[in-house]
Amino acid sequence: MEFTDGLVLLRPLEPADVPAIAAACVDSEIARFTTEVPQPYSEAHARAYVAHAEREWAAGQQRPLAIANARSRAFLGAIEVRLSDPGSIGYWVAPGVRGQGVATRALVLLSRWAVTEGHVERLELTTHPENVASQRVAEKAGFVREGVLRSHIRFREGRRDSVLFSLLLSDI
Ligand SMILES: CC(C)(COP(=O)(O)OP(=O)(O)OC[C@H]1O[C@@H](n2cnc3c(N)ncnc32)[C@H](O)[C@@H]1OP(=O)(O)O)[C@@H](O)C(=O)NCCC(=O)NCCS
Repeated sequence: MEFTDGLVLLRPLEPADVPAIAAACVDSEIARFTTEVPQPYSEAHARAYVAHAEREWAAGQQRPLAIANARSRAFLGAIEVRLSDPGSIGYWVAPGVRGQGVATRALVLLSRWAVTEGHVERLELTTHPENVASQRVAEKAGFVREGVLRSHIRFREGRRDSVLFSLLLSDI
């Protein structure tokens, strides 16, 4: 499955993406703000992630995709939605291509699909309270900020709060 708005393309992850995934995932912001990217990160993690993504598409509720340049198909980041009730969505963008609207475009594409064709009635997005860039992305993509979940998840340094956003079909 592929989605595009003409500038950003969401496409399946490919074995050819492994070096770009491994290079991006050593970034300290990804380590600090994402809960599912292992640290330290190696090419073996990237290979396992691509293989896992293929299986998820075949079997599960999870829909992981590469965020790519629509013209060149070059890898820019990753985005993943869980088609559950409530659904959830998460993303990261490689450090060298941040600040150009890539995450926002990707989030708009996949979240709109999830609440329409994916039949997710409530789509949630949570961020670290200090992750201002991701909160900005959520707001730009039309998600509604609902509040702070106290001591929400156990993370590397201990439990942490999360800022909760949601998107309903009626928001778009
Ligand atoms: C969060 C992340 C995905 C954003 O990707 P991106 O492609 O740069 O996002 P966009 O360009 O669409 O938008 C970023 C917005 O945040 C703003 N921003 C970036 N850094 C910021 C900061 N430190 N303080 C305030 N705003 C900031 C940008 O100015 C932009 O907003 P604007 O369009 O109003 O100017 C990227 O920084 C990333 O991968 N971070 C590490 C992993 C992560 O945090 N994932 C999300 C977990 S919830």
